[in-house]
Amino acid sequence: VDVEHVSGRDVGRTEHTEFTRGADGSERLAVSVRRRNDYDIVLRAGLAAQAGEVLGPLAARLGCPGACIVTDDVVAALHLPSVEAALAVAGVPVTSVVLSGGEANKDLHTLSELWAQFQMRGVRRRTLVVALGGGVVSDVAGFAAATYMRGLPHAVMPTTLLCQADAGIGGKIGIDHLGTKNLLGGFHQPRVVLVDPTLLVTLPVQQLREGYAEVVKVAMLGHPNYYGALRAAGPALLDPVHQDMTAIVRAAIARKIELLTADPYETVSLDRALNLGHCFGHAVESASEYSLGHGSCVAIGMALAAALGVERGTTSPERACDLVGLLDLLGLPVRLDPALVGPTWWALEHIRAVRNGPLRPVIPVAPGQWVIGDDVTRGEWEALARRCVIDEYTSTAW
Ligand SMILES: NC(=O)c1ccc[n+]([C@@H]2O[C@H](COP(=O)([O-])OP(=O)(O)OC[C@H]3O[C@@H](n4cnc5c(N)ncnc54)[C@H](O)[C@@H]3O)[C@@H](O)[C@H]2O)c1
Repeated sequence: VDVEHVSGRDVGRTEHTEFTRGADGSERLAVSVRRRNDYDIVLRAGLAAQAGEVLGPLAARLGCPGACIVTDDVVAALHLPSVEAALAVAGVPVTSVVLSGGEANKDLHTLSELWAQFQMRGVRRRTLVVALGGGVVSDVAGFAAATYMRGLPHAVMPTTLLCQADAGIGGKIGIDHLGTKNLLGGFHQPRVVLVDPTLLVTLPVQQLREGYAEVVKVAMLGHPNYYGALRAAGPALLDPVHQDMTAIVRAAIARKIELLTADPYETVSLDRALNLGHCFGHAVESASEYSLGHGSCVAIGMALAAALGVERGTTSPERACDLVGLLDLLGLPVRLDPALVGPTWWALEHIRAVRNGPLRPVIPVAPGQWVIGDDVTRGEWEALARRCVIDEYTSTAW
């Protein structure tokens, strides 16, 4: 049985359609549902205003009757008209849904509103959903695309550094629920990701910082030259007009994809190098009741992971200090509010329970080198907290 989907890319082949009888008397038919989810990431300064050049041919190839852009109120005011115009020029009928932005809206209510908008606007089985925004929009729009009418094709146009370097690629989608971040979600690979670094010029500096946490993370997991270039640029990185953002984003994406493709659906292991900063970071995020941004929590998480490396003797104090210093130069937090020390430990206990197993923090050793560490004991946590809490931190504490 051959199944060729409209894209011509999803091909399942079940070799035999007869049941075979096993020794235990049961009959068995092996069903193949292999699915190819390959996609391109297209990177070009100015691409958003010329998005039709990519999305027009894609819509034609997929047989899309039109596109539905999903964005948030802030991005809509800045960038929606040019993307709508670009699609119109390419002859793609377009409708746009503008959501309220921010993490607080990454929930079931927003998702339900989006499904209702899809229905009101006549979104059909093959309408191309275009997620135009940061990680919140790409998570919610991707979720809606994955679930509406059993799945619509979608494209991502990330507008924050965090989304260009991380959230917009990899196909992970999710919403927060019952007070737990990303409790509901899955994988729905985009058909294409369009990255335009010039969109970052309108980003508030704090949002740029949040994105650099993920950029520093992949740099720490990448070639020492990439990390070294970030270290040399320092605070100048926060000026997207004069920085070569294309080079920064290109290197971050390439490294993320390199680390991702061995296990894109996290089926082999949950212990991924890309989780650097996220073991402690997620706990800090939940302990702070999401008052701290995702990137800020990842930065604190990396500082804690580096401190753990020093405690365990896997990371030299100089290396740990260098990483923490880079995050600090970018204006990212590297210290834990003393009020969060207890709640972060409880959050770690909760994560341990959800994983049904030990924590496996990724410990940075040097650029391009890391170890997946053993679980953290209460005593170690207290030592880390001493190194990393506000007021007590000085570079000599390392
Ligand atoms: N799915 C994944 O693999 C993955 C990975 C990392 C993070 N995430 C998720 O991403 C989310 C964080 O993403 P984010 O930091 O992009 O947040 P965000 O989407 O909330 O965007 C941050 C703010 O910037 C504004 N904004 C976006 N683009 C802009 C632009 N070009 N100019 C001016 N303002 C702009 C937005 O309106 C918003 O107010 C979190 O929910 C996190 O869980 C998902």
